[in-house]
Amino acid sequence: MKFTVAIDGPAAAGKGTISKAVAADFGFAHLDTGLLYRAVGAKVTDGSEAIAAAEGLTPEDLKRTDLRTMEAGQAASKVAVIPEVRAALVDFQRRFAAQAGGAVLDGRDIGTVICPDAEVKLFVTASAEVRAHRRWLEVGGDEAQVLAEVKERDDRDMNRADAPLKPADDAVLVDTSDLSIEEAVAAAVAAIKAKMA
Ligand code: DC
Repeated sequence: MKFTVAIDGPAAAGKGTISKAVAADFGFAHLDTGLLYRAVGAKVTDGSEAIAAAEGLTPEDLKRTDLRTMEAGQAASKVAVIPEVRAALVDFQRRFAAQAGGAVLDGRDIGTVICPDAEVKLFVTASAEVRAHRRWLEVGGDEAQVLAEVKERDDRDMNRADAPLKPADDAVLVDTSDLSIEEAVAAAVAAIKAKMA
């Protein structure tokens, strides 16, 4: 039976952690769609052209170990404004969402564009300062610089013409600014159970 949970939100809001926990809790498959854009961005950094990189993306490309860096996030956000890049990634995401047994997809446009019929939509957010602080704890360096990069990426992701980051009209908002990981996961699980009931 198809059951899709769409989890959208800005960088470092807690989407990834919540998505993994929710998938484990309900026994659903999980797709981190940001990884697709990160893999395309990495190929462009290597010298490929963005649209060809998206059209030729392979499972191997997703296994690169350098996709989690801040630089890879910025490169992903830049290729993600290109409509043809986004179009090349749609079918893969929709097939994943439609698999029997349930699926969690996290990204920026899952509830709005990729899976507008998702059974559950969550929009996970937190203040830019809280998100930058979390990212800074992971990567170190200059916290003000991390905040500037978080804001730059938010701005690009929210203001692009094609599939901008925004909550779907029927999304449940989860603000994790003042929540522990356990509380944030519990809020997401409760929202999903409420929709299942
Ligand atoms: O979730 P993430 O930080 O790994 O995403 C990296 C970038 O990829 C993000 O800044 C914008 C883009 N992205 C997107 O445009 N649509 C998605 N569904 C997922 C990511």
